[in-house]
Amino acid sequence: MSFTIAIDGPAAAGKGTISKAVAAHFGFGHLDTGLLYRAVGRKTLDGMPAIQAAQSLTADDLKADDLRTGHVAQAASKVASIPEVRAALVDFQRAFARRSGGAVLDGRDIGTVICPDAEVKLYVTASDEVRAERRYLELSANGHAVTREGVLEDLRERDARDSERATAPLKPADDAYLVDTSGLSIDQAIAAAIAAVDQVKR
Ligand code: CDP
Ligand code: CDP
Repeated sequence: MSFTIAIDGPAAAGKGTISKAVAAHFGFGHLDTGLLYRAVGRKTLDGMPAIQAAQSLTADDLKADDLRTGHVAQAASKVASIPEVRAALVDFQRAFARRSGGAVLDGRDIGTVICPDAEVKLYVTASDEVRAERRYLELSANGHAVTREGVLEDLRERDARDSERATAPLKPADDAYLVDTSGLSIDQAIAAAIAAVDQVKR
């Protein structure tokens, strides 16, 4: 039996952290769909055309070790506005969503476009400043030379591009449950997400 949990929201809102924990709690699989766009963006930085990169994407491409940088995130956000790039990634995401045993997918358009029939949809958000501070701490802790201003600028630029694009823009699905993590600890955010799933599941 498949059961799909769609988790969308702006950059560094806590989608990945919550998705991993929710998937572990319910014994579901987890797909970070942002990684697909980051891997495509990464290949364009090496000179490959975006559509070709999306159509030829392999599991190995998702293992590149520099996918988490702001530089790659910007490239990801740019290729993500190309309809043919998005189209090339749809089947893989939908197949994952339907896997037996349950699936959590996080991204920007999971509840709106990829899995409009998902059993549970969450829209995870937080203020710009809180998100930038969290991502700044995360990148610094991983040895990246970043500034608070630079990270805030990256998030704002991507959020604007992701929200304003014509194809699959970032926005909450009409039936999404909103989780604002600005004032929540990681444990509280995870608990809120699990509670929302429990309401549907039982
Ligand atoms: O996946 P997304 O970009 O939405 O965010 P994330 O990578 O899960 O979270 C960004 C950073 O915020 C991570 O370092 C998390 O540990 C942290 N975080 C937090 O401090 N408090 C939360 N309630 C959620 C995430
Ligand atoms: O971790 P963070 O939230 O900063 O970014 P991400 O989830 O890794 O996504 C990187 C970029 O990929 C986003 O800024 C979007 O442009 C794009 N993306 C998308 O368009 N649709 C998705 N389902 C996931 C990511």
